[in-house]
Amino acid sequence: MTSRNQIDRSSGTPFTRREFVSTATTAAIAPLIITRSSSAQAADTLRVGLVGCGGRGTGAAAQALNADPGVQLWALGDMFDDRLQKSLENLKKHAPERINVPAERQFLGFDAYQQVIDSGIDVVLLATPPHFRPMQIKAAVEAGLHIFAEKPMAVDAPGVRSVLHSAEIAKQKQLSLMSGFCWRYNFPERAMFEQIHNGAIGDIVSIHTTYHTGPLGTNPRQDGWSDMEFQLRNWVHFCWLSGDHIVEQACHAVDWNNWAMKGRMPTRATALGGRQMREGPATGNIYDHFTVIYDYEDGVRTFHTCRQMPNCSYDNTCYLMGTKGTCSMNPWAPKHVIKGDTPWRYDGPRSNMYQIEHDELFAAIRRGAPINDGTWMANSTMMSILGRMAAYSGQTITWDDAFNSTEDLSPAAYEMGDLPFPPVPEPGQPSPIATDTIS
Ligand SMILES: NC(=O)c1ccc[n+]([C@@H]2O[C@H](COP(=O)([O-])OP(=O)(O)OC[C@H]3O[C@@H](n4cnc5c(N)ncnc54)[C@H](O)[C@@H]3O)[C@@H](O)[C@H]2O)c1
Repeated sequence: MTSRNQIDRSSGTPFTRREFVSTATTAAIAPLIITRSSSAQAADTLRVGLVGCGGRGTGAAAQALNADPGVQLWALGDMFDDRLQKSLENLKKHAPERINVPAERQFLGFDAYQQVIDSGIDVVLLATPPHFRPMQIKAAVEAGLHIFAEKPMAVDAPGVRSVLHSAEIAKQKQLSLMSGFCWRYNFPERAMFEQIHNGAIGDIVSIHTTYHTGPLGTNPRQDGWSDMEFQLRNWVHFCWLSGDHIVEQACHAVDWNNWAMKGRMPTRATALGGRQMREGPATGNIYDHFTVIYDYEDGVRTFHTCRQMPNCSYDNTCYLMGTKGTCSMNPWAPKHVIKGDTPWRYDGPRSNMYQIEHDELFAAIRRGAPINDGTWMANSTMMSILGRMAAYSGQTITWDDAFNSTEDLSPAAYEMGDLPFPPVPEPGQPSPIATDTIS
């Protein structure tokens, strides 16, 4: 059985050394072509800033340091000092000579991201809760920075549209915008989806993706925490911050669906979901299970199921059914098997996908050949949001209605203080979580 820790949060351990020779090794000697401050600093130094110094952010910073010998960690930003200091301490153990983050470049609070962006960096790593991602990507693109942005990209449709807009500007400015949808960079999945795209199972008839895991941890309320701090410290459990687990975590599996369908989006979704096992205020207002049916224009139907419940079976698989065969992929097993007219099984090299992402990002920056994951990373996020919206509302929702929705999950103000506890959405009832509803 795959443990919860092997799924998704596995990246929380930052210090896995590169398992494969990096393309950056040779690329590092090429001239630095496009960076915000390339004219002002030595061409072989790339200053990196990290926003969101938790498990994944610290891991991403370590991977950036591994990827390119010219990387210097230059600034850190987090909501809370304890998180920032812990991350800094760990990163100092990893590459002490390339950590250059004095107190004046340690930023805290809601505008920490802007201060990191303005600190004179070339590349920013964004790993806060996803609620904040659209505003951070926008600011980073405006500042002319290369970006690594963890998945998911947003928690609501206005956020997705903002990210798509920023991605377009990043393209015009020739900035790299890489997503943390890490399976897209893993060797076995790349090889397998290439087979699928080349017709190994014929035309896709149906897909079932799963993300069945255990619950994530909670932080009981401490004396002195405001409502806002309490929700931020338990962000995965609050829909406005995480988008719910179908968006925050299971988006990886929804992205496999998007990948297999070559980026074609469903026309509508119908979904079931609920909150059966979560108890206590720290478990917020998210559901603990979803089932989504996505309908495509040509009659293809795809299914996604996800669950975060204790003492239940785990599964994180992509099952593909085609006119000439079937494919089953569980990257944790690992298992990548095609059966049918042209049987196939992956037996090539295995990679550390988190490291490969950064190796490829920094090599692309060195070459001046930007990577832009913008469209598909935003669409996979939106597909997950569509599933949540359909489950919360109990309605069948079209892609167009969801994509154009003005449902905005932002709080009234970004400040530590009172923040009403958000209610749990009930299917068939008007949305209680949004400041606006589907137009
Ligand atoms: N690609 C993957 O496999 C993978 C794995 C784990 C997490 N993630 C993603 O990475 C992101 C972070 O997850 P994590 O597990 O590191 O969470 P975490 O809770 O460990 O870290 C998040 C950090 O962001 C800080 N933060 C909160 N709001 C902030 C703000 N407005 N500005 C600055 N800092 C802020 C928190 O204090 C915390 O230190 C999430 O989007 C998550 O989905 C991706």
